[in-house]
Amino acid sequence: MSSLSSTSRLLMGNWKMNGSLASNQALVNALLQGLGSTGSHQIVLCAPYVYLAQLQSLLADTPVQWGAQDVSVHESGAYTGEVSAAMLKDMGCQWVLVGHSERRQYFGETDALIAQKVQQVLQHQMRPVLCIGETQAQHDAGQTEQVLAHQLKAVLALGAAQLSSLVIAYEPVWAIGSGRSASPQYAQQVHEFIRQQLQQAGCQDIPLLYGGSVNGANASDLFAQPAIDGALVGGASLKADEFLRIVAA
Ligand code: PGA
Repeated sequence: MSSLSSTSRLLMGNWKMNGSLASNQALVNALLQGLGSTGSHQIVLCAPYVYLAQLQSLLADTPVQWGAQDVSVHESGAYTGEVSAAMLKDMGCQWVLVGHSERRQYFGETDALIAQKVQQVLQHQMRPVLCIGETQAQHDAGQTEQVLAHQLKAVLALGAAQLSSLVIAYEPVWAIGSGRSASPQYAQQVHEFIRQQLQQAGCQDIPLLYGGSVNGANASDLFAQPAIDGALVGGASLKADEFLRIVAA
């Protein structure tokens, strides 16, 4: 389940803190209508917690799957406001984004905490999508590889045997929501570095997604890179037409 063939792609939409019952329904209906069959591609929509039940119902018996954008590091108990991995699993959730740069930046999530969240997701038989990426300042200082290696370290320490269902999304922070995607060549080069790190840790066949201003116009050039297995799409996943163009790419 963890590997993708060279022609199949994993395309994930990250709605972030957007949506309403009405707009979600309109978006999902338009997507399902436009999609027809997803072929060998896997498509996953990650919505705010409160809308997961809506997605569960709208996407039942469709080829499109759904996931959460975060999860608690705790198993259960007195953690007001938190949602556990067991609860997500109980709802039928299969995918969970972990360590998105906005969680790192605005909610102080550390590599150690993120690794514990990945472990929670794995323990409950869902697929964690670990987000990593360098900031503009780190990029400009030539620290990209160092930063990524550090972000990967705590998760890779969980051991290859545990990580067979892991997905990694490389999202340079400077490309997220900026309209300025990484060039396909740059993304390819960084993905090769990440792949190398994974191999050194004994992890095979982990899908590597690119994220950061992916849209209908740049998707095919990104997907033409052999080290890019799919995309994590933010803004463009909120517009059915744009997301369908990415799927078509
Ligand atoms: P973006 O966001 O596509 O709007 O740049 C990507 C993400 O944050 O996952």
